[in-house]
Amino acid sequence: MRRLNRKKTLNLMKELDAFPKVPESYIETTASGGTVSLIAFTTMALLTVMEFMVYRDTWMKYEYEVDKDFTSKLRINIDITVAMKCQYIGADVLDLAETMVSSADGLVYEPVIFELSPLQREWQRMLQIIQNRLQEEHSLQDIIFKSAFKSGSTALPPREDGSIQPPDACRIHGQLYVNKVAGNFHITVGKAIPHPRGHAHLAALVSHESYNFSHRIDHLSFGELIIGIINPLDGTEKIASDHNQMFQYFITVVPTKLQTYKISAETHQFSVTERERVINHAAGSHGVSGIFMKYDISSLMVTVTEEHMPFWQFLVRLCGIVGGIFSTTGILHGIGRFIVGIICCRFKLGSYKTTPGTDQDGTLNNYIPLLANDAMH
Ligand SMILES: *[C@@H]1O[C@H](CO)[C@@H](O)[C@H](O)[C@H]1NC(C)=O
Repeated sequence: MRRLNRKKTLNLMKELDAFPKVPESYIETTASGGTVSLIAFTTMALLTVMEFMVYRDTWMKYEYEVDKDFTSKLRINIDITVAMKCQYIGADVLDLAETMVSSADGLVYEPVIFELSPLQREWQRMLQIIQNRLQEEHSLQDIIFKSAFKSGSTALPPREDGSIQPPDACRIHGQLYVNKVAGNFHITVGKAIPHPRGHAHLAALVSHESYNFSHRIDHLSFGELIIGIINPLDGTEKIASDHNQMFQYFITVVPTKLQTYKISAETHQFSVTERERVINHAAGSHGVSGIFMKYDISSLMVTVTEEHMPFWQFLVRLCGIVGGIFSTTGILHGIGRFIVGIICCRFKLGSYKTTPGTDQDGTLNNYIPLLANDAMH
């Protein structure tokens, strides 16, 4: 009984077979079929390799949404060297509320030599080349995002020559925490003194002759510090031609959530426009000499996610390639044979009518076995 049941299911499965077997003796292989198969398999192998490369590759997806986070503080990472002695200058931040940020003492003032050592020059030149390339090709940004952390430190290397020259410049570096509103970070003459209506810089004691706001920005970024990411102002160097010169940077900060396979960070990208002018009150160019960075925060937030083809999609595509090529070449081969067949038969038919000699051939062929038979006897 059980055996009967098994036989029934076996028969059922046999009927469901979508791949009916043809006995070997009915299969005919031809040279053209072999060639087509060879081409088909080569194409399949090539496409599979290419598809595997696409599968291995990753790309960046950009999404935009309104930034709803108003309460958290914005961190500003600064590393600027100004060609003036540290005791003459002061840095601080004013935000839209016109309150002086008290955490400006998160900044370190370090006396240094303005002129870079040969190794540092080299580093700066490389950074500037990358900056120029970044402006031309935006896809480079993706690579920088992906390789963040991989490339190691992007900070200025220390001097390799033990220079004995006395320091003539001041490196201001460190971080500030500000409110997430528009503000103004600046470096001017004199230390800032809090004032009931804002603040003032004590500049009376510094002679105008010693003003020199030539500066170098080795690093300026907003938000979490990510090693390996190059920001738009990194590597900038400005030489002041006049003692009273004002450098302005107008910065728009875009909050960016970065999610790659290596890091997940909340950072900020920014775009910048710059302007510089000489302060000359007599000529109507008013203002305060110094370095001013006006920043504004965009209300849009960008989410950058590194994406990758899922494995199941890779499998589906692989099946598509193999099956597609298999059936397409089969159809093409069939069509080819059909066309060749038509042409050949026409030709053969034509030759049949013109030369009746083939009939004689037939009789001649018939004769041979007879002759052979005679020989046997
Ligand atoms: C400021 O210092 C830089 C670097 O030392 C120098 O090249 C430039 O001529 C100076 N500018 C003025 C106005 O003294």
